[in-house]
Amino acid sequence: MPDDTSLISPSLEEVLGDELTQLAEAGLRRTLKSVRQRRAGTVLIDGERIADFASNDYLGLAADPRLARAAAAVLESEGTGAGAARLISGNHPIHEALEKELAAFKHCARALMFGSGYMVNVGVIPALVGEQDVVYSDALNHASLIDGCRLSKATLRVFAHADLGALEAQLQADAGQFRRSLIVVEGVFSMDGDMFPLAGLVPLAKRYGAWTYVDDAHGTGVMGERGRGAIEHHDVLGKVDVVVGTLGKALGTMGAYVAGSARLIEFLLNRARSFVFTTGTPPAMAAATLEAMRIADTESWRRTTVRERAARLRLRLQQGGLNIPGQPDGHIIPVHIGDPVRTMQIAGDMRRRGFLLGGVRPPTVPAGTSRLRISVSAMHPRELVDALAANLLDALSQGGKRT
Ligand SMILES: Cc1ncc(COP(=O)(O)O)c(C=O)c1O
Repeated sequence: MPDDTSLISPSLEEVLGDELTQLAEAGLRRTLKSVRQRRAGTVLIDGERIADFASNDYLGLAADPRLARAAAAVLESEGTGAGAARLISGNHPIHEALEKELAAFKHCARALMFGSGYMVNVGVIPALVGEQDVVYSDALNHASLIDGCRLSKATLRVFAHADLGALEAQLQADAGQFRRSLIVVEGVFSMDGDMFPLAGLVPLAKRYGAWTYVDDAHGTGVMGERGRGAIEHHDVLGKVDVVVGTLGKALGTMGAYVAGSARLIEFLLNRARSFVFTTGTPPAMAAATLEAMRIADTESWRRTTVRERAARLRLRLQQGGLNIPGQPDGHIIPVHIGDPVRTMQIAGDMRRRGFLLGGVRPPTVPAGTSRLRISVSAMHPRELVDALAANLLDALSQGGKRT
């Protein structure tokens, strides 16, 4: 025990207390709220039912009773857990049935399911590239992609958001210097709602011998004629090397998958650590997801409704003088505020008016770009969309001060 008490390091509690205070002072401290009984575009918070414009349940499937019934039937016969990693004794035929559907859905030879999208990205990128390689990552990529790139230990090149010219300049400068090159982008960007120009990406990557990795967590189920996502929208189905999609957003369940060639999947099930060393997802979840895919495919009105409502909301906000980036019917609508404290004040005002919106701050988005993130669902009636626009324009004009 040192005599000089100044040499005793502060306790864990003191250190964490200081860090939490600093977060709060910067307007960046986050808290959990209890959200219950998701129903038709609304949720119950503190006993009050409010409109939910903050979830990724774009097609309104998360609380669809048909999914719950499909899961319940399998829960009854198979129990709750897979019991082990898929490669040990946790591989159920329904996992494989779902993977077959997912592969066909994305026009790929095979697919492999993971526990979440985060796990896909931190497992697959490091399985494909390492120290002798280079990864090109869009400047606005999701944290899980950034973490996957960092974990890989490959040289990391971050290029200007959705800018094929900037990407090409980097590819050109690096030509011949690395063993493998991987380009990692999102299909629909999670916090900005715009899309990567995938039609230009595919030939560009080919010219430079780079592999393409497209995480379409937010486009899957919504974009494209049949909901196959940004790769369908940009007509590059079957042309992207590594296709990632999630199940916890438009499909309303949980988990994620990677799709690609049979050899890619065979390799990943051997080498992606976040697949190999983790328990398989519950078979009942796969049953619910299969039902979600069936519904998403047959009830195409869900897709057209999201797009129509999104276009309507964007138009209303633009008519009110706001500059809303992204494509005219993009279902993720960012409203830039800038300052994190003001962002949360306006989100709080909207919450009191009966609308739950995402208040998005660093490190989710770059410093100085805090924003409200509005996500539209097929469950939102037109009148609700109009009421949201009117209330938001009013809240913004009052600076979020109303209590
Ligand atoms: C682009 C992207 N990839 C991956 C994820 C993570 O997916 P999951 O929630 O299944 O872990 C997200 C989630 O927000 C995302 O936006």
